[in-house]
Amino acid sequence: MKVTIIGAGNVGATCADTIIRREVANEVVMVDLKENLAAGKALDMSQANSISLSDVRVTGYTDDYSKTNDSDIIVVTSGLPRKPGMSRDDLIKTNAEIVKTVVNKSIKLSPNAKIIVVSNPLDVMTYVAYLASNFDSKRVFGMAGVLDTARYRQFISQELNCSIKDIQAILMGGHGDTMVPLSRFTTISGIPIEDLISKTKLDEIVERTKFGGGEIVKLLGTSAWYAPGMAAAQMVEAIAKDQKRVLPCCAMLSGQYGINDMYLGVPVKLGKEGVEEILELELNEQEMEMLNDSAQQVKNIMDALDAMKLF
Ligand code: NAI
Ligand code: 2OP
Repeated sequence: MKVTIIGAGNVGATCADTIIRREVANEVVMVDLKENLAAGKALDMSQANSISLSDVRVTGYTDDYSKTNDSDIIVVTSGLPRKPGMSRDDLIKTNAEIVKTVVNKSIKLSPNAKIIVVSNPLDVMTYVAYLASNFDSKRVFGMAGVLDTARYRQFISQELNCSIKDIQAILMGGHGDTMVPLSRFTTISGIPIEDLISKTKLDEIVERTKFGGGEIVKLLGTSAWYAPGMAAAQMVEAIAKDQKRVLPCCAMLSGQYGINDMYLGVPVKLGKEGVEEILELELNEQEMEMLNDSAQQVKNIMDALDAMKLF
């Protein structure tokens, strides 16, 4: 199993390091535009192997894709991160060009790869990767829901003072402030969350989750990377080990939830073929309304992409 990570910045390097420490793949190749960044980080990670005793080979290159050939998975983390005051959507122009370029370059040498997009604005950048690759949409998907759900679960675990291991949750919609955490589908070892937390507290947690990315941008002056990198690595693992994990991922919708021809966060089954199934939950009227609002926000960014005439 060979994984290429385009962009050896904060998220890309964390994703690589998680894959290496967990021995999810045999080989990781990183590519970055910034001179020597990928090579330097790869050397450091490979030396950490002497301590963690990982056998995963890791190398890094400056804008050179030749060693990425025959990758099974390509993770796209190249692009600008958010700065304070910037929304994910402000990033569209720069990142759309970057995602298109790196996807074009990497798929020439890895025509059978699955592509996991991380760059923001996530849902539309995943769509860019889909258009640029011309791959079956099962092989092109984005990471956001695993991260957003991780944040939601962590806030619940903190509130209830209980193990994160016992919290199951799902979250849908775009990776933006209109994401849709679904409290009706949140349980603590099967116990409905609504039986354990007051509505007011749960509403607060839902709101905090929606702005979870922004909360970290305010603290750090750039966006998060530990949880995002691990979230992307979890998706890599689900594919590499054909785990058939049910995870919230950004996937192409063709009629599911009454939505067509756009990428949006939904529960999927992730295995060796990529998105092997999109799960359709019975949403109630209010949940459907929130999902449609979120879809509309993503469509607005898709309109901005159309105006760029990149495709
Ligand atoms: P970063 O700035 O640390 O790393 C980005 C890297 O991309 C830099 O090293 C840069 O040199 C590289 N790069 C830029 N253009 C390139 C090109 N054409 N080819 C190869 N490399 C190129 O940023 P960070 O924090 O790693 O974030 C990366 C992206 O992921 C951002 O767009 C950020 O908004 C997004 N993100 C998405 C999340 C999600 O949930 N989907 C969560 C966190 C970040
Ligand atoms: C995050 O949610 C900014 O998308 C990035 O951390």
